[in-house]
Amino acid sequence: MTPTLRTERLLLEPYIPEDEEDFVALFQDTRVSQWMGDGPASEAADRALFGRIFTKVYAQELFDVWAVRRDGLLVGHAEIKPTDVVGGHEIIYALAPAAWGFGLGTEVAEAIVAYGFDILGLTKVYATVAAPNKASLTLLDGIGFEHVRDITEDDGSTTRVLARHLAASDKSPLAR
Ligand SMILES: CC(C)(COP(=O)(O)OP(=O)(O)OC[C@H]1O[C@@H](n2cnc3c(N)ncnc32)[C@H](O)[C@@H]1OP(=O)(O)O)[C@@H](O)C(=O)NCCC(=O)NCCS
Repeated sequence: MTPTLRTERLLLEPYIPEDEEDFVALFQDTRVSQWMGDGPASEAADRALFGRIFTKVYAQELFDVWAVRRDGLLVGHAEIKPTDVVGGHEIIYALAPAAWGFGLGTEVAEAIVAYGFDILGLTKVYATVAAPNKASLTLLDGIGFEHVRDITEDDGSTTRVLARHLAASDKSPLAR
């Protein structure tokens, strides 16, 4: 069961059905969805995706997916999940544009990486990022991710695979 995580300014918690409109608005914003998964999708597809969070991901406990809230409002989305592409667990995160530029993306990414190390017991956490996505690459560089390899997609674009290894300084929450 996806647990609630707290950061200095954010609450990461499981989605509730009432989040549907805010979730769809987040993923319908192409400034966000251009960097997510297969890119922008129809509103119907995003509603179906939201539904599958409950009917598949939570119901079958496939992986963790969080609504990211600030002051009670949905400001973003986060996941950590095993993928074949990286052969391990990958973090995924997005914030609504109004929340960009305040260090919140770093806060979300740090929280789910720590969850991967401390709770899932991982020794390595991956991220895959479209090569032109400077914001995400800068964020990951800032929190200790290193370049592993590049993937050339079917459309010729480049996806960078990055990873962060568990370090001695990544203490368990019990030790914090
Ligand atoms: C990626 C994203 C989460 C960053 O969120 P954010 O809260 O603005 O990021 P932060 O404020 O924590 O910034 C982290 C670093 O990235 C830098 N940065 C942020 N936006 C940037 C941009 N557009 N271009 C270059 N650098 C940028 C910041 O200056 C900061 O660097 P610093 O630590 O050297 O000062 C946000 O832009 C987003 O949701 N984008 C759309 C979805 C997405 O790309 N998700 C990731 C898919 S891999």
